[in-house]
Amino acid sequence: MKEIIIKEVNYDEENYAHFGTKFLIGNGYMGVRGSMEEYGAKHMPAVNIAGVYNQASSEKWRESLNAPNPFFIRLKIDGEELSLPNSSDKVVFHEQSLDITKGIHVRKTIFKTAKGNVTVETERFAGMTHFNALALKYSVTADYDCVSSITSGIDGEVWDINGPHFVNFEVEENSVKGICENGVSVMTSAKGVPFGDMIGTKSANEEKTAQNIISFNAKKDAAFGLTKVAFVQTSIDEKISKEPQKPNFLLKYDTLLEEQKQYWKDFWQENFVEIEGDEKAETALNYSIYSLQIIAPRHANALSIPARGLSGQVYKGAVFWDTDMFMLDYFILNDPETAKILLKYRVDGLKGALEKADREGYNGAFYAWESHEDGIEACSKFNVTDIFTGRAVRTYFDDKQVHISSAIVYGIKKYIKLTGDTSILFEGGFDVIVECANFYLSLLTSRVFPKMGEPRKLEILDVVGPDEYHERVNNNAYTNRMAKFVFEFTLEVLDLAKKETKKDSPLLPFPEVLNDLKNGLKKIIPDMIDFAVNDEGVIEQFDGYFDLEDVSVDVVRSRLKDPREYWGGSNGVAYPTQIIKQADVVTMLAMFKDEFEKEIMKANLDYYEPRTEHGSSLSACMYGLLQCFCGMPDTAYPMFLKSAEVDLAAPKKLWAGGIYIGGSHPASWGGAYQMLVYGFAGLKHNKDQKSKGKPNISFDPHLPKHWKSISFHLTIQGKKYKAKITHKKVVFDEVKI
Ligand code: BGC
Repeated sequence: MKEIIIKEVNYDEENYAHFGTKFLIGNGYMGVRGSMEEYGAKHMPAVNIAGVYNQASSEKWRESLNAPNPFFIRLKIDGEELSLPNSSDKVVFHEQSLDITKGIHVRKTIFKTAKGNVTVETERFAGMTHFNALALKYSVTADYDCVSSITSGIDGEVWDINGPHFVNFEVEENSVKGICENGVSVMTSAKGVPFGDMIGTKSANEEKTAQNIISFNAKKDAAFGLTKVAFVQTSIDEKISKEPQKPNFLLKYDTLLEEQKQYWKDFWQENFVEIEGDEKAETALNYSIYSLQIIAPRHANALSIPARGLSGQVYKGAVFWDTDMFMLDYFILNDPETAKILLKYRVDGLKGALEKADREGYNGAFYAWESHEDGIEACSKFNVTDIFTGRAVRTYFDDKQVHISSAIVYGIKKYIKLTGDTSILFEGGFDVIVECANFYLSLLTSRVFPKMGEPRKLEILDVVGPDEYHERVNNNAYTNRMAKFVFEFTLEVLDLAKKETKKDSPLLPFPEVLNDLKNGLKKIIPDMIDFAVNDEGVIEQFDGYFDLEDVSVDVVRSRLKDPREYWGGSNGVAYPTQIIKQADVVTMLAMFKDEFEKEIMKANLDYYEPRTEHGSSLSACMYGLLQCFCGMPDTAYPMFLKSAEVDLAAPKKLWAGGIYIGGSHPASWGGAYQMLVYGFAGLKHNKDQKSKGKPNISFDPHLPKHWKSISFHLTIQGKKYKAKITHKKVVFDEVKI
């Protein structure tokens, strides 16, 4: 197994936002931004917690919580503070790195003082074997004798976007508890163990921060500092976690470190993807895999992954369709247990989805566009600020982006198809599917036009498709196809459920109303409008799309009066044009590839690609996937790299109107993974293959020219397999691990 280290040298304060994301560590329970130890709230350090939310006031958005930061450290040498960015003029060397093969973040900074060099070295990780544990080693060496003090704290002055959330603090010697107005609390406890020639320690707690000042009599070239083991707990651990944990200060730093290394060693043995002939792609893809693994909620009963992972509060720490459509496949194919945890989150969210449908005037389950605990809708009706007037702009993401419910059903289908495990249906999944079908049934309309004299086929009006720039459109091809898919899959699971004979099945006796649903769906499906197609085979994204102004992305961009303007909505520059934000028709084609001829797919790629701004990181991977399906791996390759490198490369947009919109992009990593297995390797699920002992999959590979081979593992129906694929050959064998 190769070592993969992501590294940046030289200090530049400007990079604090980007590097905070790029060097993220985490373990699914929490993510810790790759910030410098001495950073305060201004430089956005965060210990972002999964699944715990609060609303600071009615004017502010709900968002996830950041825990008091136990990695907070300040250093003084002979009374002079050495910290970044304040002492950046004294930095003679700086390096920050992330060893993804061990899950360890490392930093080395050398400051030049009047007397000589002072070297600070740190090592930190989030416990993969103890999900509420964090660990840090902070080590200092000076090349001259000095007196030093290290202030080691738990900083309760956390960075928030829509905060502050903590209205009360309980600060003890080794802990800080932040308490929200509704009683939800987050507590960080930490204990430092100094090493080196220590003089003494004294406590210096503040209102929100627990601090210990440790002083040292440091000899030339002798290391001193501390190791720190910290624990984070929340008041809702009992609800979320399979086995809630308490701080255990008997756990030693070195023991945790050894366990950490072993965890990742075992992990990579089964999950490393080799791309022979392309180190850049190999690094980026394995970084994507690392990044998905550190946000996987393995500790939970039912929890999902926010659109920005655990890199902070951007997008309110909420769960979008990103998880079900883009990330889920990685977990299904490698860690089905976690995939099921993600699906169970949607089962738990049914309550919120039923309420939302009712509120919006529909039947069934309308899932939250931005989902918080219990499926609460966190999406505001005003998501964008007009930069000229400063006024909030009405957006229609939550009430019109109805395709969200279909993504959840699609996720369940993928899980069942590839794992063969139908248990999710009987643990609430069945109700999710049926209620989503009821939702789409209540969306169907048919209009009578005087000239035509008779009703049109069944339509879905007034929606927002994946392309968010065009709001309130009729018959979005993606939405219509996905709604139809929900109906089709509902029929499949109704049959399956009817056949279910287990005595304790929650579906027995089979209710009559479901028979009615079945008969109703059978009649309705053939009457649904799919989409319109032009003479060249291009599918119209929505009714009237082809009549919009046909200009280039550059022309539309040149019409902006301010680069920070929002392109979408009825006042946006893209709205009257055919320029779209992200893959829309193309996503539909990629999801239902077996229904379309290659020529049709190509015609649509050719038409839509130049008209796509790729303003969302969910876009490139869908184009890339479809290009692979069309046998164009070399055209797809840049899309793959763009997706896998999304958080390694310099970020495109970090701020919008002064608001931080950066953070990590897990859907893009998941999309890159999908491109690898479904696109380049051409993994296919064979519905009817029943041969005993063999997995019901096959490969139809299309590798980019410069790749020699790819090798990866897959878990299919409880067994582990290894695939090695070259341009000429596929070797696929079961492996015993
Ligand atoms: C995209 C959505 C996506 C969301 C979160 C938006 O910019 O348009 O499709 O779900 O970001 O990643």
